[in-house]
Amino acid sequence: MRHERCRICAQPIRPFMSLGRQPIGNAFLKSPADFAKEYFFELAPAHCAHCATFQIVEIPAPEQMFHDHYAYFATTASTVMTAHFARMAEEATARFLAGPDPFVVEIGSNDGITLRNFAHKGIRHLGVEPSANVAEAARANGVATLTAFFNPETARAIRAQHGPADLFIATNTMHHIEDTNGVAEGVAALLGPEGVMISEDPYLGDMIEIGAYDQIYAEHMYIWSITAMNNAFGRAGLEVFDVARNRHHGGCMRYHLGRKGVHAPTDAYREALAHENALGLHRPETFERFRADCERARARLTELVRDLRAKGKTVAGYGATAKSATILNWCGLSPDDIAYISDTTPAKQHSFAPGSHIPVVPPQRFAQDPPDFAVLFAWNHFAEIEAKEQAWRAKGGQWILPIKGVQVV
Ligand code: SAH
Ligand code: TYD
Repeated sequence: MRHERCRICAQPIRPFMSLGRQPIGNAFLKSPADFAKEYFFELAPAHCAHCATFQIVEIPAPEQMFHDHYAYFATTASTVMTAHFARMAEEATARFLAGPDPFVVEIGSNDGITLRNFAHKGIRHLGVEPSANVAEAARANGVATLTAFFNPETARAIRAQHGPADLFIATNTMHHIEDTNGVAEGVAALLGPEGVMISEDPYLGDMIEIGAYDQIYAEHMYIWSITAMNNAFGRAGLEVFDVARNRHHGGCMRYHLGRKGVHAPTDAYREALAHENALGLHRPETFERFRADCERARARLTELVRDLRAKGKTVAGYGATAKSATILNWCGLSPDDIAYISDTTPAKQHSFAPGSHIPVVPPQRFAQDPPDFAVLFAWNHFAEIEAKEQAWRAKGGQWILPIKGVQVV
């Protein structure tokens, strides 16, 4: 259903662009027999002038996206992210879990990438993860996991059974849940008086700056900023008191939230908020510029790939990311343009990419049938992948970076 009002504050909103008809980014298709019944919706982002929340106006039902065959397994997606979350768990334990018998809740806990660090230390924890297959993978890793959508009812049930949470984690998850107000209400119900929520996901400021329009897809229905997080969680009596930026996934912001007035705001928070205000995220011109950047990137990528194909060069894709669905479908690229997409995730292999129907294959194919050019859809893991593909690079293989500017490197 297409929304005419902001999902957070209910003020009227209007999309500033359309990324066209799009499938669900992680809905890989097992066989050509599935092509005819594929689900599409219009991917159109808007920015709420009232509460500053960046959102898409039409969102598929959650059960269509998060189910027993969800394709994203966080632990297999990147070793760098696995190390990043281990570090986060260590820092959060030292900073926020000093009391006796602490309790940690994580939503979008996926295959246990973060919670297993708490589980291995014997810290009480509970993951809340609606995608049954990844939840099962977490349990197999020794991570206590409830297969459920987090909402105020789940929150109250967890509190009744386990008591208040000292730490509540949501990494790369707040942009996956349509009912943000419900999550905020749930967090407020579940956290102890001094409890802390850590949320981390791609930062709106970075997305605009690097023209990473591929961060926008069905499962990424919001792109958060400090101002928007404060406005959304402020409705439930919570506020951001500390932040930290990192370069993962093209630029993420980590938000620390607590009950209003309990945790003193840090200098890092004040500085990042001042920087955010200077970015002009509240101005319509900022989003007009972003739209123009995206349109230039689309024109350049399609021209470049078709030009290379016309010259007899081979082009493959690297990383069957959810992000790639936005690019491939908006640019109208097909298996004639991009022969295959190589991906390390077993659940994505031997399938067809949503919408574009480009075959997704294991990395062995990339090794045996190396392309002249590879569109790096997993551009956010550039360093990790560049290190891994030195042999191909040495033989002249070149990357095409598909976002802003579209570079060949
Ligand atoms: N935290 C991991 C995984 C992020 S993917 C990481 O940072 O890499 C987002 C996850 O959120 C998916 O596993 C999805 O199934 C889950 N999710 C979606 N809706 C949810 C909800 N309402 N409550 C809890 N988890 C949800
Ligand atoms: P990610 O960037 O988290 O993507 P998104 O959130 O857009 O789906 O996932 C990276 C994808 O790239 C994942 O499917 C695994 C794949 N990948 C490879 O195939 N090879 C690699 O070396 C790396 C790091 C990732």
